[in-house]
Amino acid sequence: MGLLIGELSRHDRLYYQEDRPEVTDAEYDRLLRELRELEASHPALIRPDSPTQRFGAPPAEGFAEVRHLEPMRSLDNATNADAMRNFDARVLRELERGEPIEYCAEPKLDGAGVELIYDQGRLSVGSTRGDGHVGEDVTANLRLCPNIPLVLLPGRPIPERVSVRGEVALSAARFERLNAQRLERDQEPFANPRNAAAGSLRQLHDIDTQRLRSLEFRAYAIAIAIGAGRPIAATTQAEVLETLSAWGFAVSQPSETCRGIEAVIAYHQRLLADRNRMRIEIDGSVAKVNRLDDQAELGTLARAPRWAIAFKFPPQRETSIVLGIQAQVGRTGALTPVAELHPVRIGGVTVSHASLHNQDEVDRKQVRVGDTVVVQRAGDVIPQIVSVVTSKRPKKTRRYRLPRRCPVCRAKTVRLEGEAVTRCPNLDCPAQIKNNLRHLASRSALDVEGLGEKLIDQLVEGGLVRRFSDVFRLDAATLAGLDRMGEKSAANLIASLERAQDTTLARFLIGLGIRNVGTGVADLIAAHFGDLDPILSAGAEELEAIDGIGPTIAESVVAFFADPRNRAEVALLRKLGVGWKATAPKPRGPGPLAERTFVLTGGLAGMTRATAKERIRALGGKVTGTVSKKTDYLVVGSDPGSKLDRAKQLKVEILDEAALEKLLTD
Ligand code: IVH
Repeated sequence: MGLLIGELSRHDRLYYQEDRPEVTDAEYDRLLRELRELEASHPALIRPDSPTQRFGAPPAEGFAEVRHLEPMRSLDNATNADAMRNFDARVLRELERGEPIEYCAEPKLDGAGVELIYDQGRLSVGSTRGDGHVGEDVTANLRLCPNIPLVLLPGRPIPERVSVRGEVALSAARFERLNAQRLERDQEPFANPRNAAAGSLRQLHDIDTQRLRSLEFRAYAIAIAIGAGRPIAATTQAEVLETLSAWGFAVSQPSETCRGIEAVIAYHQRLLADRNRMRIEIDGSVAKVNRLDDQAELGTLARAPRWAIAFKFPPQRETSIVLGIQAQVGRTGALTPVAELHPVRIGGVTVSHASLHNQDEVDRKQVRVGDTVVVQRAGDVIPQIVSVVTSKRPKKTRRYRLPRRCPVCRAKTVRLEGEAVTRCPNLDCPAQIKNNLRHLASRSALDVEGLGEKLIDQLVEGGLVRRFSDVFRLDAATLAGLDRMGEKSAANLIASLERAQDTTLARFLIGLGIRNVGTGVADLIAAHFGDLDPILSAGAEELEAIDGIGPTIAESVVAFFADPRNRAEVALLRKLGVGWKATAPKPRGPGPLAERTFVLTGGLAGMTRATAKERIRALGGKVTGTVSKKTDYLVVGSDPGSKLDRAKQLKVEILDEAALEKLLTD
């Protein structure tokens, strides 16, 4: 049995990692069948790492939520070498280093981020990134991904519990094959390998196991390792990758340890030259400060760490022809001209539409129907029309103007003076209602499973839903009478509406679709106020006092709740049962160190610099890397750097460690 497992694992590796299978699929299946039969007659001998164990039971209902042990953050982006040099300068300043920083440079994989938790070396939970804090439990699906170890190899000590992070992706070749297959079956092809990977992971019903088996995982981080006296041995990111490799993971390759930022830039250029030869699509490189203690010192912001940066590849460009221009009506009634293009492949993605944003943009670029245009795509950004090839303009083309009447409800459109946007002013316009509902039902808002686009269209077009609250008045009998709905799906929808009613204040705020209020902002507001009523009566000033909220956001929130129609709708939603648990509001007003800026220099004895920074920030203070006129305090440890001279020059108040401690505890 061991021999058979070894043999099958070798074929998995040849097939999925090295792309040079030695046996046919039929032969592979025969070996697998043989192993299954053996295991069936000796169930006690089934090994957890057996290839047959990859066929776990698919999740029966919706995915469970998994809270990540530590948030799965994003990365800051650079698009040119100078931005990389600026990043490096900041790192040098913050770490007060004279000599070049060592970086670990890796490819930036264009896939779906996942977290894998191993308990006692065995895969226990695998989840998607989700909103960064909470993802979906896709363990059963991930178990089918052939190069995810079900059991870690003991090549290095294994902590009791470890979280491995990486990207699940599809090779370009497999992506093409999958799409060809889908077209044959009359299914919509995937727009890019990343979507195909994420979509595969999130399959719930009628799981296509073949699709899962063609996924590939590449590990790049160990997020947390708790182990009774068995921490991971790594002190650098390069060693983290080695450890991951020793545990049996395929890691993001080719990685390189680079001394200084110029070496990182050179690595990036080499990667760019090889871009289209990579097995898995990459959209840039990632530079990480190599030493883990330096990473800790630099720290992490809410969205992204300060010790890493993504250096993105330039967008890829192609030419295409504008087949038409349509005006789309968005959630806020804004009319957006969208160019329909002759489908063109750009860097592995089929592009058939590009936004022209607004009338000014159309005028500036002079785009007309029939034009040949240069189209570019940059990562996950919506494709853009860069310019028109005017020499190729056919005769008899006409300027494009946004329509005078809303294409959906025929209301007269308006464009206010000084504004770029043309709007449909009709709040009851079906297009606005539909988009608002889609937003309300979306995963980051109330997450109403089963309330999809087609159903929303029917509900709004049939006049069953005119505003949010109508959704919570729907009954199963009405729903069951709709197209493509039966009693079962109607009952399911009613059940998921009931589940969705029990929400959080932040999700509710997101769902309302207040302009400029996305997940991060909603979290801040919800944490600050704890419940809705104080938000309803808050003025712009109080909102602006929240760290992270500026005047634009504050005004949008105040304007939204000042509208009696919105207040009435909110009251109605609550009456119909939409609710959340109120939390204790955070102490009002800014922290005791608000508006005070600190700079640290030299080593501290009683705490690490990372801790010092955290404690200052917790009290509302700011920590920056350079001494300037705006600096209030310079905290001086042993062996201070040149910052001390500069602080003396600028007459900045100087604190020693004891004085800092006093300030932090008083
Ligand atoms: S490190 C704390 N390394 O890119 C940040 N991320 O745009 C840890 N990604 O969320 C991320 N390749 O999903 C890292 N070699 C790589 C990566 C990588 C792709 C993804 C990852 C991240 C996103 C940020």
